[in-house]
Amino acid sequence: MEKIKILFVCLGNICRSPSAEAVMKEVVKSSGLSDQFMIDSAGTSGWHSGEKADSRMRKHAQKRDYDLTSLSRPVKTTDFDEFDYIVGMDDDNIFNLEQMTKLPEHQMKIIKMTDYCQNHDASSVPDPYYGGDAGFELVLDILEDSCNGLLKHIIETHDLL
Ligand code: 4NP
Repeated sequence: MEKIKILFVCLGNICRSPSAEAVMKEVVKSSGLSDQFMIDSAGTSGWHSGEKADSRMRKHAQKRDYDLTSLSRPVKTTDFDEFDYIVGMDDDNIFNLEQMTKLPEHQMKIIKMTDYCQNHDASSVPDPYYGGDAGFELVLDILEDSCNGLLKHIIETHDLL
């Protein structure tokens, strides 16, 4: 079977989306579905291209046993063909992704992370870059909730398990 391909997207691809990538990989692994998924992340900007995730984000993630290993890269137009789900962290990410393609079959792949929250009442994963510790913890709290919700949605949609 073709793998289900998910691309998580934020602005810099050094805080939120690499964390979403790591959390989703763990959530998928816990369900025994790792073989059926390909999970990656990218940024709407290339400002931090080639860099490891932000050291503050890595520190907070490590406390919850997530290893952030990906290197930042910008979203590319071929991603809209390659991936099945393109998951933005906030409305700016969604807007910028929508500007990158005109095709309806690409547009329909663009979804917002927080639409899959089950316990948090959040309308975005807030950018933690200019804030303190609490912002990084909130990112992880929202991602753990929404990645579980997203996997549940995908399992139902694709009749997995
Ligand atoms: P991210 O956070 O989009 O979650 O990776 C940011 C990283 C860098 C910047 C802004 C947000 N920046 O302005 O450089």
